[in-house]
Amino acid sequence: MQINIKDTEEIKTQGDVLILPLFESTGAGPFGDINEALGGLPLALIKKGDFKAQHKETMLLFTYGKIAASAVLLAGLGPRDKATPETIRQAGGAAASYLKNTRLANAALSTRTFDGLDATPADFIQGMLLAQYRFGVYKKEEDKKGLESLAVLSRKEKELAAPVKKAEIIADAVGFTRNLINTPANDMTPAALAEAAKSIGAGVSVQVIEKDEAIKLGMGAFIAVSKGSMEPPKFIILEYKGGMDKKPVVLIGKSITFDSGGISIKPSEGMEKMKYDMAGGGAVLGVFKAISDMKLPLHVIGILPATENLPGGTATRPGDIARTISGKTIEIINTDAEGRLVLADALGYAKKYEPAAVIDIATLTGACDIALGGEAVALMGNDDSLIARIQDASRKTGERTWHMPLFDEYKDYIKSDVADLKNSGGRSGSLVTAGYFLKEFANGLSWAHLDIASTAWTDKDRPYSPKGATGIGVRLLIEFLAAGVK
Ligand code: BES
Ligand code: MN
Ligand code: ZN
Repeated sequence: MQINIKDTEEIKTQGDVLILPLFESTGAGPFGDINEALGGLPLALIKKGDFKAQHKETMLLFTYGKIAASAVLLAGLGPRDKATPETIRQAGGAAASYLKNTRLANAALSTRTFDGLDATPADFIQGMLLAQYRFGVYKKEEDKKGLESLAVLSRKEKELAAPVKKAEIIADAVGFTRNLINTPANDMTPAALAEAAKSIGAGVSVQVIEKDEAIKLGMGAFIAVSKGSMEPPKFIILEYKGGMDKKPVVLIGKSITFDSGGISIKPSEGMEKMKYDMAGGGAVLGVFKAISDMKLPLHVIGILPATENLPGGTATRPGDIARTISGKTIEIINTDAEGRLVLADALGYAKKYEPAAVIDIATLTGACDIALGGEAVALMGNDDSLIARIQDASRKTGERTWHMPLFDEYKDYIKSDVADLKNSGGRSGSLVTAGYFLKEFANGLSWAHLDIASTAWTDKDRPYSPKGATGIGVRLLIEFLAAGVK
């Protein structure tokens, strides 16, 4: 979608549709002139209660030549005193979702309503851009619908240009991540993920540790997961150094390109969705795309331990013991608890960077969905100040996180009779015992863990995340990193 900031008057702006964001109980709001030009229709509808400007409510009116645009879209923002950047993003998402299924392709957005508000037109636009997303790669050319251009009507071009550009870069990064995740596992192999990492270009260097080298380095847990698959595993490392020689932040993304469960095979119902088990790695790639596009002065390392988890004659068996890069051994009770295995080696590897902080992002447990549903990311870690900084970023981006405990008592849950640890503690507390398992490999690091198992995918359309991969974590981690730029 092409975005231009334009200093033209609403009434004189041509196009298919003029979007008018409006707060609840404010009459025609700042649109008295347009209401008048339209013969008082908008206000009459509001007065009658046919349009209440409730949050995410939309109504399309045709203008029959009374103003330059062919139609206006009233976009409800809800109550003004409850407005936040997130409610505004959602309202933008609702407006774009409405237009997505019409042939109104050229839109203009009035920004009058946002005067004196905490939230900005850029928030509304970001919601629009995120909602616009479609995964059309595997479909024949679809009937062309959806927005092609957006004129942002404002006199403050200087003020708005940078935040609008930023919204575009971030929405592009989220779209990039969603594409990677939505791509089926026959195409999104570990090798394809490595290629995607290399495609980011501009300031991002990529190194891929192949299987033999991973074995030599002692990544026995990572290798154990890959053994049932014909697809060669790839331990993908990215580095972005925006002119900074500081200690890096390391982002680790779980990258299981397909999780069948392995020998501890999953039930077939819903198994097709396990292509999204690389959503953590996909999110990390989106973050690298955005920070390199924004040229942020940061030093960031990305680690994507990428492999499939399949059963087969060469697959790891329950009861097998793997030796990790850190020297700790793991009894593999359940081959379906593979995420923590690859992350154990990724955390061990991360130590060589002497990082300022390490954040892993992973579709780690089914229990995450039991605990929080699709409404929050489970957040855990060993450093409260790091947790607090992630929570700050989370409040800004609307990607909700909830801090879960890692009590010392959980250690007993994952004690093995024959190895240093076992990879499954059973049902009880399995969201946090998975976190605790990771903590055992994060000693000496300032570390946090994001379990995105229940938020990385949505089965229903959300205000700015259509069905499928959401790209959760991309905006959150960009915000977290950007906040560290002083
Ligand atoms: N990738 C799954 C977790 C998952 C489940 C993500 C549903 C998204 C949706 C993970 O590898 C897994 O299978 N976890 C098991 C661990 C258990 C065997 C200890 C789980 O949570 O059931
Ligand atoms: Mn699994
Ligand atoms: Zn998994």
